[in-house]
Amino acid sequence: MARVIGGMGTSHVPGVGSAIDNAKTHEDYWQKLFAGFEPLRAWHRDNVPDVNIIVFNDHATSYSLDSYSTFTVGVGEEFKPADEGWGPRAVPVVQGHPEFAWHLVEHLMAEDFDMAVAGSLDVDHGLTVPLSIAYDQPDAWPAPVIPVCVNVIQHPLPTALRCYRLGQAIGRAVARFDINLKVGIWGTGGLSHQLGGERAGVVNPDFDKQFLDNLVSDPLANTKFSHTDFIREAGSEGVEMIMWNVMRGALGDTVKEVYRLYHIPVSATAYGAIILEIG
Ligand code: DHB
Ligand code: FE
Repeated sequence: MARVIGGMGTSHVPGVGSAIDNAKTHEDYWQKLFAGFEPLRAWHRDNVPDVNIIVFNDHATSYSLDSYSTFTVGVGEEFKPADEGWGPRAVPVVQGHPEFAWHLVEHLMAEDFDMAVAGSLDVDHGLTVPLSIAYDQPDAWPAPVIPVCVNVIQHPLPTALRCYRLGQAIGRAVARFDINLKVGIWGTGGLSHQLGGERAGVVNPDFDKQFLDNLVSDPLANTKFSHTDFIREAGSEGVEMIMWNVMRGALGDTVKEVYRLYHIPVSATAYGAIILEIG
């Protein structure tokens, strides 16, 4: 039987990837953040799964704003790094897990989640930066990945509750996969940030802390926020936080907080990360 071994939520700020790729992590601006990654990376070294399900958003890299699916599962053998505007990062190609990915698709469809299925999907900073945060600069990523892409770009977006329920269904799908697999689940994006418009640069530590606390002890509270709540409290791109609800839903009712990191500013964002184990 497959089983979820833990979950991570993390921001996916492209500048973090760029700092790693360009050997800038010891510069004053980055040093404190990267010191904060050390316990997170230690946990990942001790808890290498057989596959990571990474819930992320595409930033109009693979999708265009003309055509956007709400939820997509990548079922390909591999996924190439790409990025809108920045060009692809020189990081390892992401290996997929087609057999398990198809199982997820079939299970989720049977539970009435109408998933889009992508045989080929280029993955942008929403997925590759979290890999670098967890694993630094290996020659190959230590585990294959099933990309689960959520539309947080082109309104209307899925609700925070729908995302949580998707995560619960992913948790059930994992438990029904008949092969012994240790599974990690990650949600990326956030925390509070807004990249453009009048409120560009907005961050809200109180809201972020509440969201992180809720993830641990009252995850349903995070399903009650509307998109307007997220955008008002956490900025227009803060709505990426709904993807953390997918991760949290997959972990079940009770979790243990293993590690939390919160750092302002990272680029225009409040950077947040959390590691949760079941129990
Ligand atoms: C930034 C953050 C994001 O989540 C993103 O997708 C792009 C840019 C930033 O703060 O620079
Ligand atoms: Fe983003």
